[in-house]
Amino acid sequence: MKIIKTIKDMREYSRRAHREGKTIGLVPTMGHLHRGHVSLVRAAKKECDTVIVSVFVNPTQFGPKEDFKKYPRDIERDKKICAKAGTDVIFIPGDSEMYPQGYATFVEMKGLLTETMCGASRPGHFRGVATVVIKLFNIVRPDLSYFGQKDAQQVSVIKKMVKDLNIDTRVRVMPIVRERDGLAMSSRNVYLSPDERAKALYLYRALKKAGEMVKKGARSSSLVKKETANMLRRISGVKVDYIAITDPDTLEPVNKIRERVLIAVAVFVGKTRLIDNIVIHSVKREAPSVKCFKRSS
Ligand code: PAJ
Repeated sequence: MKIIKTIKDMREYSRRAHREGKTIGLVPTMGHLHRGHVSLVRAAKKECDTVIVSVFVNPTQFGPKEDFKKYPRDIERDKKICAKAGTDVIFIPGDSEMYPQGYATFVEMKGLLTETMCGASRPGHFRGVATVVIKLFNIVRPDLSYFGQKDAQQVSVIKKMVKDLNIDTRVRVMPIVRERDGLAMSSRNVYLSPDERAKALYLYRALKKAGEMVKKGARSSSLVKKETANMLRRISGVKVDYIAITDPDTLEPVNKIRERVLIAVAVFVGKTRLIDNIVIHSVKREAPSVKCFKRSS
């Protein structure tokens, strides 16, 4: 596995790979890798000739009072995980490589996608995400790029940016990888004390309960949200940031639940902010009709 630290070397590597007719898959990360990240690398490995994992704790997506400084970092461990998962290149640019003095350009997305849910609680977060991701796209020029459904809103923002700015990459979205007990894997789980770790489980439990309500026929979003909030409120030390029921792609709030909805929750467990989500089909989908492509002989 090659380790690349400068934009110049990364560009050269990608140019050469493309000249040789190879496809490039990019997995952008902030490091402290876990099985969720590895699932993206594996998916990229299946589809692309060359897999590049970027590890960069992006300062512009953290608010002034957030955890940028204490965000977990362990690059030696990340290198081992990447190598084992079959990564071809780990791209580790420094802060001043990505944002040199005088840096002034940002991607600003207007509207619901960046202003609701995590965008409302973390102003400027998606501006930082969109900016760093477009920079990585411009540096690496990936044919395919891999993101996790764990950050459902981030996926919607990136897909919209790719569409609006005519970026030549295909966005792949991979399912949420969970711990055995259901907790969604996250680099931030290391912040949790054993007691908080136990309480964090209620996030997924509450989501599953909300999903069951919908599957059993609940159609009122406000009722499902209320029940979910009630369940979470009962756990001391857990504070609900938001519960949203939306269209999974546009994030448009849904009042009357029909067909597919995203149920997304953010909570604070102690000081740690955790997010999770599920996508639920409220109506049974009919089995697709089987088409026969064989010519009759
Ligand atoms: P990070 O939190 O490191 O996540 C990197 C990628 O891994 C994201 O696409 C995220 O959705 C995915 N991921 C995280 N946990 C996952 C899980 N349990 N299952 C599946 N996928 C998971 O997201 C970021 O970094 C940053 O915002 C970034 C896009 C790199 C821009 O800085």
